[in-house]
Amino acid sequence: MVMEKKRVCVTGAGGFVASWIVKLLLSKGYIVHGTVRDPSDEKNAHLNKLERARGNLKLFKANLLDYDSLLSAMVGCAGVVHVACPVPTTTPANPEVEMLEPAVRGTLNILKACSEAKVKRLVYISSTAAVIFDPKWPEDRAKDETCWSDKEFCRATENWYLLGKTEAESIALEYGKQNGLDVVAINPGTVFGPVMQPILNWSTLLLVNFVKGEYIQIEPVDARDVADAVLLAYEKPEAKGRYICVGHNIMIKDLAEKLKILYPDFSYLENFGEDDHEYWVSSEKLQKELGWTYRPLEETLVDSIESYKEAGLL
Ligand SMILES: NC(=O)c1ccc[n+]([C@@H]2O[C@H](COP(=O)([O-])OP(=O)(O)OC[C@H]3O[C@@H](n4cnc5c(N)ncnc54)[C@H](OP(=O)(O)O)[C@@H]3O)[C@@H](O)[C@H]2O)c1
Repeated sequence: MVMEKKRVCVTGAGGFVASWIVKLLLSKGYIVHGTVRDPSDEKNAHLNKLERARGNLKLFKANLLDYDSLLSAMVGCAGVVHVACPVPTTTPANPEVEMLEPAVRGTLNILKACSEAKVKRLVYISSTAAVIFDPKWPEDRAKDETCWSDKEFCRATENWYLLGKTEAESIALEYGKQNGLDVVAINPGTVFGPVMQPILNWSTLLLVNFVKGEYIQIEPVDARDVADAVLLAYEKPEAKGRYICVGHNIMIKDLAEKLKILYPDFSYLENFGEDDHEYWVSSEKLQKELGWTYRPLEETLVDSIESYKEAGLL
C-alpha cells in the first residue's frame, strides 16, 4: 500500500477520547485505520455511524501486546495517534500485568511498529498523570511541561495508572530521539464532554458520581478540545515534545457552584475539606506554540450532562 499523508492509524478507536479523535480526523478528510480489540463488539458500533466513516474508516483487530496486529493496522499510514491504554474504573486484581504491561510494553510495540511501517509522526496521548505527581515541585508554581511525575513516588503509592503513563511517555519521547521517529505527546487533564461510546469510561464516571454527591479531583478539559489539540500536534510541523492540554484550573467547590446554577436538582457534596485546591497546570505551550483554544467550562458541563441523560447514565 502506498503511504498517504492523510491516512492515520488511531489505536483504541472505540474508547471515549479516541472516538472524538476519529470523528475529527474523518471530518477533516483523513482516512482512518482504527484499532479495536474486537471489531464485532457492539461497543464499537458508533464508529461506523460517524459521518464519512463509510469508505474512510477501516477497523483493525489489534491488541497492544500483539506486535503483528499493530503493524498490520499501521501499514500505509503516515501518522499514528496512540490512544489505547487501560483506564480502569476500579483497580484490577493484578495491576502490574493488567495496567502497566499494556501501557508500557504496548507503547514499545507501537514505537517499533511505527519504525517498521515508516510512520512519519506519532502523537502519543499521555496524561497530566505523567506531569503532576512530583512532590518536590514548588506549591506556588504552575506545573508545566518540565514537570514529570516521580516514578518512585508513583510505585511507592501504588499509583499504577500514573506510573504506566509516566513510564510510557518518557519511553516514547526518548525512543523518538534515539531512532529518528517524530514523537509528540499530548497530556490531557480530566476529560469530560459528550459520550459517543456505550461504555462508561473512567472520567465520565467521575462527573456522573460528582453530581450524585461524591468527591473528585480534576483538571477538566473537553474531549472535543483534546481532539483539536491532537490534530494540531499532528499537522503542525513545529510541534515538538510534550504539551499539557487542560482547559481549566478550578477548585472542586467552585465546580460544584457552577453545576448547582446549571443543575440545582442534583445532590452535591456540601463540604470539600482541606484537600480541595486548584491544580495549577499550564497549557500555555499548547496555546502559544500550536494555537490551541478551548471552550468555556459551562459548555462542557452542559453538553456532558445532557449526553449522560440521553444515554440513560443519569
Ligand atoms: N479520560 C480521561 O480523563 C483521560 C485523561 C488523560 C489521558 N487519558 C488517556 O486517553 C486515552 C483514552 O482514555 P479514555 O478515557 O478514552 O479511556 P477508554 O474509553 O477506557 O478507552 C481506552 C481504550 O484503550 C483500549 N485498550 C485498553 N487495553 C488495550 C489493549 N491491551 N490492547 C488494545 N487496546 C486496549 C480499549 O479498548 P477496548 O475497547 O478493546 O477495551 C479502549 O478503546 C488513554 O491513553 C488515557 O490514558 C484519558
